[in-house]
Amino acid sequence: MVSETKHKWWQETVFYEIYMASFQDSNGDGIGDFRGLTDRLDYLQDLGVNGLWITPFYPSPKVDNGYDVADYFNVDPDFGNLSDFDNFIEQAHARNIKVIIDVVLNHVSTEHLWFKQAVSDRKSKYRDYFFFQDEPNGRESFFGGSAWQKEADGPQVYYHKFAPEQADLNWQNKAVREDMQAVLKFWLDRGVDGFRFDVINFLSCNGVGEENSSDVSGKQIHSHDIDQPGIFECISEICTFVRDYSKDCFLVGEVGHEELSKLVPYQSDDLLDVVFNFNLGSIASFDIGNVHEQLVAMEDRQGGLPTIFFNSHDMPRSMSRLCQNNAAHAAALAALTLTARGVSFLYFGEEIGLADFIPENIHEMRDVQAINHYQLALDEGKTKSQAYGRALKECRDKSRLYMQWNSHKFSGFSSSIPWIGEGAPNSNMPNVEAQINDPDSLLHWYKMLIALRRECPALNLGRYDVLSLDKGLLTFVRRWQNQILHIMINFCDVKYAFNHNPSHEVLASKGLNLGEPDFLLPFGTLITREVQDVC
Ligand code: GLC
Ligand code: CA
Repeated sequence: MVSETKHKWWQETVFYEIYMASFQDSNGDGIGDFRGLTDRLDYLQDLGVNGLWITPFYPSPKVDNGYDVADYFNVDPDFGNLSDFDNFIEQAHARNIKVIIDVVLNHVSTEHLWFKQAVSDRKSKYRDYFFFQDEPNGRESFFGGSAWQKEADGPQVYYHKFAPEQADLNWQNKAVREDMQAVLKFWLDRGVDGFRFDVINFLSCNGVGEENSSDVSGKQIHSHDIDQPGIFECISEICTFVRDYSKDCFLVGEVGHEELSKLVPYQSDDLLDVVFNFNLGSIASFDIGNVHEQLVAMEDRQGGLPTIFFNSHDMPRSMSRLCQNNAAHAAALAALTLTARGVSFLYFGEEIGLADFIPENIHEMRDVQAINHYQLALDEGKTKSQAYGRALKECRDKSRLYMQWNSHKFSGFSSSIPWIGEGAPNSNMPNVEAQINDPDSLLHWYKMLIALRRECPALNLGRYDVLSLDKGLLTFVRRWQNQILHIMINFCDVKYAFNHNPSHEVLASKGLNLGEPDFLLPFGTLITREVQDVC
């Protein structure tokens, strides 16, 4: 349970996810890197975010864009080197920006030395770092297809929950656990402030486990490959190791579930500080009734602080997915993201209203998940156009287009971008340059909301006195000590009439009309403060 009196730095932090390859290229090779990112720290400071989550930057063949790590102790040359990393951390800290890094513990790249030794010498101790067996079982990969791959020069198959190039680790093996602790220690020594643990409930703590079950349609249910017996002990060992070494370290877990009841058990004093609330964050379409229901459930059933986000590198962007490309809707969603109770996580580009990048054919797709599904559809006898449809549905490139800094084609990246399809359009995309000096822009609205969140303890630390929904009008009252804030966000498509209390000071608003009568336009927001407090 998060105590109201002793709070931690991350409770007062607005995080911003940087997808490494997409953010800022410094040397014209078309790939975002640490030097580029460091050059953009002033932009981030000006935006007001004070925490960054950076996606994997370790040496990797990038089959899954870096989530296939070949060496945990270095920086991929595409992104720079260790001294670029150190400089980035130093520069971020100089601006009071904390940094958490992504760590992939479930699997390693098949290019990792451990795996190479495991396959080149069957007597090697590394054989037991992985799962090899003579025959595959029916287990399916999360990217589609079998979870088993035959080793190149040997008779057995090995287990991979994701791509064949991502071999799963055996977390029952003490040596694996110790080797991964050394990885965490290495990065803590380099000054990181926390970790985002990738697919952390997927760790195999109980071997491969029994066969998964299937639903009535024959679709596999992940009954034995995730949330295995022993998972809580295993995660607790990792978290305790980190906290013993660095007590203020922030631990965020990607727990792969969309049901709140399955997320909640992973958050506690000896487990994760927060989990990503996919029950809210990955909703497929916007329904304010459902959003309100999830917020109420999080308030009632989640002991620790929730996380509030609607974007990441794994899901279509909220502008396309939830807001029908409507900037007013995006502004209302921003207000929700930054005033609801929980740790806010923004994703680069959402502050300018970046929409999805839509690859027009399979050759423009780079995401391994999309390409896999394309092939599976063809194998099932589907036409190329049907296969493209399925691939597009699964395609995570949509949210990975490079940051739109200006209206120039390729936005400062080189013309040949190796990790996203050629011909990526940006002529009609919003961009930073066009918004930075426009006080009515979405970017300015984000800046104002972030500043407010950082200034007002009620937004960071306060619970809800009120969390209600009336005909599409979402109302929060957040209180911290003597500070009481009232937040109204109008998610209905007609204006909402109300009586403004003149003793409430307006802190921020959009689409507000005061007087004769008072109303909020569709997607309007009003944030006020009861005047007796000092913000
Ligand atoms: C997580 C990452 C995703 C990656 C997967 C496998 O879900 O966010 O991008 O593909 O783990 O590592
Ligand atoms: Ca580069």
